[in-house]
Amino acid sequence: MKVGVLTGGGDCPGLNAVIRSVVRKGVQEYAFDFAGVRDGWLGLLQGAVVPLDIPSVRGILPRGGTILGSSRTNPFKHEDGLQRVRDTLAAHDVDALIVIGGEDTLGVATELNGHGVPLVGVPKTIDNDVSGTDYTFGFNTAVGIATEAIDRLHTTAESHMRTLVVEVMGRHSGWIALHAGIAGGANVILIPERPFDLEQVCEQVMSRFKINYAPIVVVAEGAVPKEGQMILKDQSLDEFGHVRLSGIGEWLAREISERTGKDARTTVLGHVQRGGTPSPYDRWLATRFGLHAIDAVKDGDFGMMVALQGTRIVRIPLADATAKAKVVDPSLYDEFEVFFG
Ligand code: F6P
Repeated sequence: MKVGVLTGGGDCPGLNAVIRSVVRKGVQEYAFDFAGVRDGWLGLLQGAVVPLDIPSVRGILPRGGTILGSSRTNPFKHEDGLQRVRDTLAAHDVDALIVIGGEDTLGVATELNGHGVPLVGVPKTIDNDVSGTDYTFGFNTAVGIATEAIDRLHTTAESHMRTLVVEVMGRHSGWIALHAGIAGGANVILIPERPFDLEQVCEQVMSRFKINYAPIVVVAEGAVPKEGQMILKDQSLDEFGHVRLSGIGEWLAREISERTGKDARTTVLGHVQRGGTPSPYDRWLATRFGLHAIDAVKDGDFGMMVALQGTRIVRIPLADATAKAKVVDPSLYDEFEVFFG
């Protein structure tokens, strides 16, 4: 059996740990051969497939990014995309694929599997918004980086008695904002799931100044003001057709500053959240996902995604995992009410 491995979408700490784990178990336990697909689905459109074996995955466990490269290519947006994918798999004798990706990449995997391509999915994304799994790998690292940034911003905010707004990633979901905001002691946390009232944000900012504390506002890039629209720097689209986010942080600091009469500044964490070495937890989770994904291939259990439920790794249908994004439950957000303001 020859197994192709592909990483798609935004990079994420732990991708290499999955690749290593899949290859180690696949070669050592099952005597499988492997092929690395370059740059996500683009590699299958272009026939860019490279050898993958145990020596090529040595030393990659702590490395961020992906040794296979990634892209936001959607083969179904290309003419003859499906046929070109099939041709590449056939040309390289690939019998099955392990697809490591977030909602877009796994959405394509679901569709391809519907067309008969045998594959197993592994959920990755710092955003933690894939359904059916308690956590995706990469999220823990991103929360750690964002929390450290917030800790550092506290001291500047307090020294200058100004509001510091921290914009974190999270297109449809506020998982990073909520976790890092709570861990970092923010007093305003704005998430896409809960449109915010600007007046209330300003009141919360002022109430912090009144007790001689500097406000820290954590905002997810996809957060929207009530009766408003998503705030964007520009209207450019990525390859998958999503508008590129970021802009809300700058806008918010400007509004807070004008409405409160006090200085407010913004830090946009951007790709810093996704870069660098994975946390121990993400290495652990990514390694477990890899081991279970190759077992699913061995069992011929295609069209499935490995998922973390409690402490167990289970298999769930890819179609269920990709039907809708996993967002923050309002009751979870409300738990922290006492810290806001
Ligand atoms: O990986 C998902 C994500 O982190 C989103 O939160 C964000 O909108 C997007 O990636 C940005 O990715 P890029 O700028 O690399 O396309």
